[in-house]
Amino acid sequence: MHRFEGVRVLLTGGGSGIGRATAVRLVAEGAEVFAVDLSKEGLEATVAACSGAGRIVTHRADVGDETAVVEAVGAAVAALGGIDVLVNVAGIHRATPIDRLTVEDLNRLFTVNTVGTALFCREALRQLPDGTGVIVNVASTAAAHGNPYMTAYAASKGAVLGFSLSLAAEVAHRGIRVVPVSPGTVRTPLTANPRVLPDDLDTSYYARIRPPLGAAEPEQIAGVIAFAASRDGSYLTGAELRVDGGSHI
Ligand SMILES: NC(=O)c1ccc[n+]([C@@H]2O[C@H](COP(=O)([O-])OP(=O)(O)OC[C@H]3O[C@@H](n4cnc5c(N)ncnc54)[C@H](O)[C@@H]3O)[C@@H](O)[C@H]2O)c1
Repeated sequence: MHRFEGVRVLLTGGGSGIGRATAVRLVAEGAEVFAVDLSKEGLEATVAACSGAGRIVTHRADVGDETAVVEAVGAAVAALGGIDVLVNVAGIHRATPIDRLTVEDLNRLFTVNTVGTALFCREALRQLPDGTGVIVNVASTAAAHGNPYMTAYAASKGAVLGFSLSLAAEVAHRGIRVVPVSPGTVRTPLTANPRVLPDDLDTSYYARIRPPLGAAEPEQIAGVIAFAASRDGSYLTGAELRVDGGSHI
């Protein structure tokens, strides 16, 4: 498929997991991708994964830093000549048992997951073309389904979901679509990294909620993001795409 020939995509979180898989998929379908991430090494690995396509530019920035976001969007416009699609994937997860929840946890989760997404939307909307512009924001099933130790993460992702639905209503008159995509459990460093969980957490709950289709590979989420951002999704806006392998059937 070549659904993204001539399409310029600004992608955050392109240095790992779902973001990397999305970059690979979009480049393979003809997109020019401007990938933003905190991790220089991660971005280099993503360029390597997009082997030989020559259609990916990388930029190191913290999505929670307003000045850095403005600069990143300006750099994307300078590099690509404009932006047709914004995909917000960058995010962090911290397990936070309620009795140990800190203001620092709350601030960092909201700054990266929610504020970062909102700032990229605000800045990219100055560039996105009326009629065809698309924003895809990665939320999480945690936004709408309870999981122990995820209160702060879930709140930050619930905010991404609510933000995206209201933004869809606000920019629909411009013909710009906004689609929140909510993955369930995906095999990425975010879920594999044991440092996410304090040593003494009771993880038996998670053992019970294994999705009937198993954990997703990042490519399975990237395929849905690509669908939402493509012309195949042209009548889709303000609706959450839940991609969780049946976890909440
Ligand atoms: N993995 C899952 O099971 C899962 C489930 C639901 C939602 N999600 C969401 O999907 C998105 C991608 O997660 P993933 O699983 O691919 O994780 P990941 O850790 O593999 O990738 C996240 C990327 O975001 C980057 N990042 C983190 N903070 C940043 C910052 N401040 N500025 C710029 N870049 C930053 C990281 O460097 C990394 O490259 C996240 O928003 C996550 O919350 C993941």
